[in-house]
Amino acid sequence: MASRRKFIYSSLFGGLGTLLGKKVIAGVSYPTVTGNPIVISTWDAGLAANAGAWKILGSNGRALDAVEAGVRVTEDSINCCVGLGANPDRDGIVTLDACIMDEHGNCGSVGALERIKHPISVARRVMEKTPHVMLVGQGAQQFAVSEGFPLEEQKLSDDAKKAYEQWLKKSEYKPIINIENTKSGGHGPSAPVHLPNGELNHDTIGMVAMDAAGNLSGSCTTSGMGFKMRGRLGDSPIIGAGLYVDNEVGACTATGQGEDVIRICGSHTVVELMRQGMSPGQACKTAVERIIKIKGDKAGEIQVAFLALNKKGEVGSFAIQKGFSYALKSNKEEKMYNAKSYYQ
Ligand code: GLY
Repeated sequence: MASRRKFIYSSLFGGLGTLLGKKVIAGVSYPTVTGNPIVISTWDAGLAANAGAWKILGSNGRALDAVEAGVRVTEDSINCCVGLGANPDRDGIVTLDACIMDEHGNCGSVGALERIKHPISVARRVMEKTPHVMLVGQGAQQFAVSEGFPLEEQKLSDDAKKAYEQWLKKSEYKPIINIENTKSGGHGPSAPVHLPNGELNHDTIGMVAMDAAGNLSGSCTTSGMGFKMRGRLGDSPIIGAGLYVDNEVGACTATGQGEDVIRICGSHTVVELMRQGMSPGQACKTAVERIIKIKGDKAGEIQVAFLALNKKGEVGSFAIQKGFSYALKSNKEEKMYNAKSYYQ
């Protein structure tokens, strides 16, 4: 899209080194944005989502409202990875996961939600109107309907339909996640990425923001891994994995293979590393290295990326594979960044 191309992709990082026989990053630097409001979100879709969030942040609104409004833009769009037109599970049904967290430690989440257009808003209702944090499956749908969310028909996008039909030919259960690399210059509604066998891989939009009052919130929403087993949940609806916010320290969201984010309580880990004094970038890199250590030889087969913001308004990100990009909007800039990665 022309408007998307207008934004500059910035490569922000330094040289290469070698660690464990692999090409890895030796030095890491990150954009430092001091001041708020600020909003960051994963992938190309983040540009439009940030613009949605900015309508609130730019008029001194609350970060919580901004992160909900922002990712609703992505849920509304036709894309492979978020919302009702996205990749179905292996039974052909689109199931959606989302979570949200505010500056007071309040949080809400939905998992495996069907036929509801805005899972992020249902997650917020779970947070605000129930004594619980998480509702899943039919119970989540029942709650959504009781809250006035209309039951929609599932409408697979053309790409998702084509990819699912292709997948059905073999019906091989081999989930592969995030092979976006540089084929599309990123991953988003405008550039759904097909795997070599025609499958669409998946991803997530995760967003964190700090408002003019200095308060942090975050949101995360996805259809999860394409052609997943029915009932599979990834990291995105799990507080501490796909998203974590601590208003004294910072916030983090994750994207990529949810199972491996969950394994290290990824977003919570990044926030705790920031609490110990690491910059957002160092914290994301350390969390990625923890996954790599666990995965060993299999680390090259997966993608995970973390995106974090600290209380000073500093941003950092790090991924296992190259190709992860994120969108940043503040009073000073509005652009895409390519994150540094372990593998080059
Ligand atoms: N990160 C999204 C998922 O694994 O479902």
